[in-house]
Amino acid sequence: MSYNGNTSPALQPLDLSLKYKVADLSLAELGHKDMQLSEREMPGLMAVRKKYGAEKPLKGMKITGSLHMTIQTAMLIDTLKELGADLRWATCNIFSTQDHAAAAIADKGSAAVFAWKGETLEDFWWCTEMALTWPDGSGPDLIVDDGGDATLYVHQGVKVENDPSLLDKTYTNLDLKCLMDRLQLSYSRDPKKWHRVAKNIRGVSEETTTGVHRLYHLEKNNELLFPAINVNDSVTKSKFDNLYGCRESLADGIKRATDIMLSGKVAVVCGYGDVGKGCAASMKGFGARVLITEIDPICALQAAMEGYQVVTLEEALKTGDIFVTATGCVKVITGAHMEEMKDEAIVCNIGHFDNEIDMAYLTNSPDCKKLTIKPQVDKWALKSGRSIVILAEGRLVNLGCATGHPSFVMSSSFTNQVLAQIALATEPHEKQVYTLPKKLDEEVARLHLDRLGVKLTTLTPEQADYLGVPVEGPFKPDLYRY
Ligand code: NAD
Ligand code: ADE
Repeated sequence: MSYNGNTSPALQPLDLSLKYKVADLSLAELGHKDMQLSEREMPGLMAVRKKYGAEKPLKGMKITGSLHMTIQTAMLIDTLKELGADLRWATCNIFSTQDHAAAAIADKGSAAVFAWKGETLEDFWWCTEMALTWPDGSGPDLIVDDGGDATLYVHQGVKVENDPSLLDKTYTNLDLKCLMDRLQLSYSRDPKKWHRVAKNIRGVSEETTTGVHRLYHLEKNNELLFPAINVNDSVTKSKFDNLYGCRESLADGIKRATDIMLSGKVAVVCGYGDVGKGCAASMKGFGARVLITEIDPICALQAAMEGYQVVTLEEALKTGDIFVTATGCVKVITGAHMEEMKDEAIVCNIGHFDNEIDMAYLTNSPDCKKLTIKPQVDKWALKSGRSIVILAEGRLVNLGCATGHPSFVMSSSFTNQVLAQIALATEPHEKQVYTLPKKLDEEVARLHLDRLGVKLTTLTPEQADYLGVPVEGPFKPDLYRY
């Protein structure tokens, strides 16, 4: 589609009088109860509420969130609110919203929330812009991002205002097309909006690996418009959420979607990074035989040392019963791969976007026919005469077909998020990508020990002196990535 001054008919203008748009407000009571249940499981968040609740370090800060609108996120929102923030929230994935969580937040008024399960892409970008725009037309001071879409919105908005001819180009990527449609509208109404918004932003804290890659890319090209904190690479985020979170939520997603018995099946996990390691352990734990594909020799060697067979995807196609992509890469499973798979193989993705499985092959090929079994579970008849089952339309299976990671591990991730937001709100930062100090990482871990009955040994001054570390930590140099 090209842009000639007309906006798409599906394009919704912002409605800044709305305090929320959720699926069903009558679900709020259930949401409140579920949130109450998660309090014990989120000791990190409860501790920061206690520590900073009176001081309110986020007072006066307008925060936009673009992060899965789950019960765990509702707990994060309430924490940021208790620290003084004024919040607007959208989800970062069209299938990940838990409608009772969104309803609870709308009902309490902790944030202006725009999220429901099963958004269209047009809805998604509308919700994101609603979360980025306050009723007086101003933007946020801070962003909590998961995957980088709120950050992209502002950066792309500024680009368009600098070079409106970008609006005349054709965009084949559906997400980008929807975003450019919205930017066309905002440019026609206020050609300096995104410059003003960007100028006011003190910083973004980014949740996930893929979003962090985007930030480093912007930094490298000198395009980063505001400071950023990489939350993902806190040890208490990526080595817990990505690993132990996926170890539980991958199987949850596959089972809620298909009820399949995993024991005895062959599960192929593409990518053996933090997420892939959790996915492989999950499948192995259920008694599946696990095959790994990798491009990185170190991760491949790690997988082999754990006893997994490391193969190419081509080698795995004929034996795999379940395929999981966990790479953050693109077109890992292509149409040609799908055509070679066994009948009724299950194919899903747990990486951030929807491009690890080539869904366009299925949707654009006249030989491929979709039969929807239920929402987020589709059986695709292929040219080969066989069928495959695609979960969550190739988007995050754990959040699309289940409810994402459990509260306990999200407490660890989100405690880092809160600390990052406080740092951005209270300290000056340059336009670059930061990580949180090791000491805070240890603090986040410490906050989660009691719930598990962990008893730490304390160094004696003599031992501390011997090791050359302070008695109160940090105790070790930064961990090596692998
Ligand atoms: P990572 O960088 O630790 O691991 C990715 C691995 O994939 C790397 O080892 C890399 O070598 C490998 N890889 C890349 N391209 C490949 C290819 N074509 N074939 C095989 N292997 C390939 O990243 P991560 O932290 O494991 O995150 C992976 C993805 O999962 C990211 O998109 C991240 O944002 C997302 N994520 C999802 C969740 C969730 O709840 N669903 C949680 C955390 C992260
Ligand atoms: N990412 C993975 N699981 C999640 C959850 N339960 N809530 C928010 N983000 C998540």
